[in-house]
Amino acid sequence: PLTAWVNGHFVPLEQAVVHIEDRGFQFADGVYEVIACFSGAFLDLDAHLSRLQRSCDAVAIRLPRPMGEIEQLIAEVYARNPFPHAMIYIQITRGISPRSHHPAEPIEPTLVITARELPEPGQEKIEKGAYAITLRDMRWQRCDIKSIALLASVLGELEAARAGADECFWLDEHGHMLEGCASNCLAVIDGVLVTHPLDHHILDGMSRRMTLRLAVSHGIAIEQRPWQLNEPGLSECMMCSTTDAIMPVCRVDEQIIGSGHPGPVATSLRQWMLEEFE
Ligand code: PDD
Repeated sequence: PLTAWVNGHFVPLEQAVVHIEDRGFQFADGVYEVIACFSGAFLDLDAHLSRLQRSCDAVAIRLPRPMGEIEQLIAEVYARNPFPHAMIYIQITRGISPRSHHPAEPIEPTLVITARELPEPGQEKIEKGAYAITLRDMRWQRCDIKSIALLASVLGELEAARAGADECFWLDEHGHMLEGCASNCLAVIDGVLVTHPLDHHILDGMSRRMTLRLAVSHGIAIEQRPWQLNEPGLSECMMCSTTDAIMPVCRVDEQIIGSGHPGPVATSLRQWMLEEFE
C-alpha cells in the first residue's frame, strides 16, 4: 500500500487525513510542490525546495520544520513508495484553526507528502501533438506563487476536457499566451524559442527553466517576451511541466500550428530533456 507523511507520521495513504478546520481545506490557504523522481534521483530538488521556501515566504506561512528535514522526509516517503518514475507531492498549509479569515495565532502548519507513480504521457499524444484550448485568464494576480488555490485551473482543465483537449492556456487581456493550467507554454517564432517573461502572470516552472537552458546549450536562440498565437513566423507551440516534460502542441482552439505535426524544436527539446532524466 502507498504511504504518506501527514503531520508527523507515516500512514497508509487511505488513512491519510487532515482536520476539516485545516485552513487548506477551508481557505486553500497553502502552497505546494510537485517533484519528479527517476530511479531514485529527484529532478531539480534544490530548485523545487527553494521555490517552496519562496512560496511560503510570499504568503507568510512558516516552514513546519527546517528545509533539511523536509528534504529527508521527501527521501523517506519515496523510499516507502519506490516507483521507477515517481511524482512527489508536498503541501504546506497554514494549519488548523477555527474558521475565521484571520487565523488564531499561533498555529502549527500542516505538512503532507505523498508519492505516486508518474503517469506516462500517451505515446499518441507525443507523436500527434497535444490539442489545447484558450481562455481569458481568470486567476489571481500572484500566479508566481505555487498556491493550492487552483479552482480557476480546475475549471480550465474541465473546459479543456469538455472540448476533448489536453490543456487550457490562459490569455491576458491583450491576447498574449501566458501559461497553461498546469504547464508553461512556449512557441517557435522565426526560429526563436519564445515564452512569456517571468512576472506575476506565470509560475517560474522548473521545466520551463530546463527547456530554456537546453535550447541555449544547443544553440537555439531564446526570447522571453509576451507573444501571441497569430504572430507571423510562428511554426511550433509546446507546453512543459514536471508531469509531462515537453509536449508539442499542434492545435490551439481552431488553429493548426505549423505543419500540424510535432516540429523539430519541440521534438529535439523533448529528446534532450528525457536524456537529462536518464
Ligand atoms: N503544475 N504553471 C502552472 C500553473 C503549473 O501548475 C505548473 C506545474 C507549471 C510547470 O511547473 P514545473 O515545470 O515546475 O512543474 C507551470 C504541477 C505539475 C501541478 O500542479 O501538478
